[in-house]
Amino acid sequence: MQIAFSPVRTQDDIDRLAAMAGIVWHEFFPALLSPEQIDYMVERFQSPQALGEQTARQGYEYFFIEADGRPVGYTGIRAEGGKLFLSKLYLLREARGHGYAGQAFDFLEGLARARGLSAVWLTVNRFNTHAVEVYKARGFRILRTQAADIGGGFIMDDYIMEKSL
Ligand SMILES: CC(C)(COP(=O)(O)OP(=O)(O)OC[C@H]1O[C@@H](n2cnc3c(N)ncnc32)[C@H](O)[C@@H]1OP(=O)(O)O)[C@@H](O)C(=O)NCCC(=O)NCCS
Repeated sequence: MQIAFSPVRTQDDIDRLAAMAGIVWHEFFPALLSPEQIDYMVERFQSPQALGEQTARQGYEYFFIEADGRPVGYTGIRAEGGKLFLSKLYLLREARGHGYAGQAFDFLEGLARARGLSAVWLTVNRFNTHAVEVYKARGFRILRTQAADIGGGFIMDDYIMEKSL
């Protein structure tokens, strides 16, 4: 199925995005992170207030990923230093394994090229094996590891991966 990408623009969009992020993160991350860290990260990075700040003042853009007119995931990006930072790519559980990630990369890489950006890069939890394999299959390579202190006593233990365009 062909999916569509719908920009997040209004406060209502932001509220719906935050609700979806809460669902996906609480469904997916228990295998990798403590419940306390998930709550902290959702509140810090994906609450309506955080999303409003990111989109209004920090240059982030979010898109709902829609299949058959229904949101099945979302992605968030920011252009920085001549490259596209792929900040978020999350599909609802039932939307995984349908080729939507490949279409999302087609969209994001096309958008990056259209904006004259030279690469797409991202951070991914080092133990998120499936996502790392998906990114490798798409041509991303691991540049380095990064242990980022995100406050609250929590660390994000990530790979930084990049794909030149
Ligand atoms: C990461 C995520 C977006 C990927 O989407 P997905 O639907 O699971 O990915 P797919 O199963 O469609 O796989 C995408 C591609 O990677 C390939 N791939 C997947 N696993 C692979 C493996 N182990 N080895 C080689 N290729 C693999 C698939 O063949 C597919 O290629 P194709 O599009 O050319 O057919 C999705 O799993 C997700 O939302 N996960 C939970 C949240 C998350 O981890 N987000 C990323 C945080 S950084």
